Amino acid sequence: MSVRRSLVVGTVGLAALLATQSTALATPPGGVPPGQAKKHVEVSADAPLRDLGSAIGLRIGTAVNTGLLGEDPAYTDIVNTQFNSVTPENAMKWESVEPTKGTYTWADADELVKSAQRNGQLVRAHTLVWHSQLPQWLSKDTGATTTFSDQQVKDIVKKHIKDEAGRYKGRVWSWDVVNEAFNDDGTPRQSIFYKAWGNSTDYIADAFRWAHEADPKAELFYNDYNIEYTGPKSIAVYDLVEKLKAQHVPIDGVGFQTHLSTQYGFPNLQETMQKFADLGLDVAETEVDVRTAVEAVDPATDPATYTATPVDGLHQSTQEAYWDQTMKACLFVQRCVSYTVWGVADSNSWIPGVFPGEGAALLYDDALQPKRQYTVVQQDLALAAGAAPRRAGAGGR
Ligand code: XIL
Repeated sequence: MSVRRSLVVGTVGLAALLATQSTALATPPGGVPPGQAKKHVEVSADAPLRDLGSAIGLRIGTAVNTGLLGEDPAYTDIVNTQFNSVTPENAMKWESVEPTKGTYTWADADELVKSAQRNGQLVRAHTLVWHSQLPQWLSKDTGATTTFSDQQVKDIVKKHIKDEAGRYKGRVWSWDVVNEAFNDDGTPRQSIFYKAWGNSTDYIADAFRWAHEADPKAELFYNDYNIEYTGPKSIAVYDLVEKLKAQHVPIDGVGFQTHLSTQYGFPNLQETMQKFADLGLDVAETEVDVRTAVEAVDPATDPATYTATPVDGLHQSTQEAYWDQTMKACLFVQRCVSYTVWGVADSNSWIPGVFPGEGAALLYDDALQPKRQYTVVQQDLALAAGAAPRRAGAGGR
């Protein structure tokens, strides 16, 4: 009873705060003018995340492992009942769609798009131009070198964008057009793209223009990690997108990957996203996970028994606090159009393979049971009920 009461009181509180903030902002294009009567959507506080998000126009997404979707019933059920946006975790990456030059393998990506249509989900397509997970025929060393000439690389990139974005024209909500173009110190990454364009980031503008030509309605994002806080990389990305906007390059948004670890402090995420939004861009949290130190069982030696259990209660509660803040940051930035978690359950997260000793980074445990993190995110969404809806789903210009 007392829990319920505090939730009701809290609901008024957070919704009122959000409403106050939204009236202070200019009306976003396609948004609901402040003060205009809007349809009240009743959703119970324990509703699936996607329903709670829908009530305020916020898309709640997950990265999807296409090997599990449709194969693992419990996994598939969570994807389709809890989320109304999906990102292919790997299926649309260049190495996945064109492992042999000129021979496309679209099956997994096609399946995901069809599944999304059947389940009322939008697709955050990911990603067209990225130095990592390139096919071997294009680069054997993570996008650092290639055997092709500069002009050939330009032609190959253009064809790739036209072919892939063209294939899914009108069927995806957004594209991460360019992913991770900067180093942590703010210098441009020395990728085959940067080099082919004469040691210049001009490839980024071209990529957005080609993606826009291929799918004029898709919302086009620049996406990166470690830009959640003010620092050299975030500033470099800000300067880039400001320049792109000034040059009328068709960019619509910036994705903050938001791969967090409890060993670092929580970033000034809300402030940073708001700064980008003030440039006239949508923003999104695109790959949220919160990893922490876990019981030391080496997943490489014994993947089957790997259990992602935080080392102690403090780590667990810090994770919960971080999840809370990632969701609140998005809720308080009116142009934050989607909130996507990078995978469903700890048992299928990329974290243990890449960050040894860390894990437990997602909302569901190894047995696909919701964790306390899930309830934290769910309650934040429930507490925002009644806030002015954002324009998720409008799709770009
Ligand atoms: C990761 C996937 O989760 C892994 O399965 C894969 O082996 C490597 O890539 N930033 C991104 C994502 O933009 O595409 C990455 O996904 C995680 C970091």
